[in-house]
Amino acid sequence: MGKGLHRDTVAVEVLAPAKVNLSLEVLGRRADGYHELMTVFQAIDLCDVLTIEESDTLSLTVEGDAPASEENLVLRATRALWARSPGRGARLHLQKEIPAGAGLGGGSSDAAAALVGLNRLWAAGLGQEELVGIGRELGADVPFFLYGGAALGAGRGDVIEPLPPARGVWFVLSTPPFALPGKTGRIFSQMRVDEYTDGSRTLAVAESLRRGRLSQADLYNGLHAAARREFVDLLGYVAGLRRASHRDWTLSGAGPTFYSIATSSSEADHVAASVASLPGRRFVALPVTAADQL
Ligand code: C5P
Repeated sequence: MGKGLHRDTVAVEVLAPAKVNLSLEVLGRRADGYHELMTVFQAIDLCDVLTIEESDTLSLTVEGDAPASEENLVLRATRALWARSPGRGARLHLQKEIPAGAGLGGGSSDAAAALVGLNRLWAAGLGQEELVGIGRELGADVPFFLYGGAALGAGRGDVIEPLPPARGVWFVLSTPPFALPGKTGRIFSQMRVDEYTDGSRTLAVAESLRRGRLSQADLYNGLHAAARREFVDLLGYVAGLRRASHRDWTLSGAGPTFYSIATSSSEADHVAASVASLPGRRFVALPVTAADQL
């Protein structure tokens, strides 16, 4: 993940891809207050770009749409790596393309990119397991982004098993313009016991990826009903998407982005055009493999 800008590695540029959850099931409540999940993540080629240069001080500049928390995660990742392996400082520049707080994992991906980039720049020599250990402390989605591609996530979504990425599919994303403040905690607290599921839908999606045939009917998000109860605007938004496109849309993560899958580039463009009059931002993205990110 990332490439050296200069041969002497005084600067690195790392791509930080977004993700969608092809399946997300809530299995139940844990003793620590969190919920046990089973999910399938898929990285997509909608990417932030993190550029890191060696410096005597630590600084971060951000271009584009990023709240303070997103910046903090990059700086927290930097400090966490520095605590393990003190290097010089770093001048970080984050170019945001992924909408923030949208269910696409942008902040977590930026944190993973910072860990990978700094590990290289500072020649810290930390292995994958050590980076994953640091990543887990920063956020439950960070370990996935240290693997990339597609993966099954268990526990809080932070216990990762790589999967073959989706093939022959295009993702059409529609991110509504409204923010969902405190969304993750609020949506989890709305979960009803009868909405817990057993993980079998997620295992079926993993199997579809292994067989190389994923379809819209496979997709599932167990947070959807709770999200609609807590944030009623989502209900109208997805109804609008369905009406305009005559197809199903799936919530990614805790939202509010919805996505639909197409089987050709022209179909994806057609779907995106059909919902172009709805408020918000649209993206057409391809799955990325772990190797693409090297
Ligand atoms: O991961 P994050 O800190 O954003 O999560 C916010 C809140 O969402 C947690 O404090 C917890 O209440 C809830 N949550 C959960 N189970 C998860 C992830 C988050 O209950 N797997």
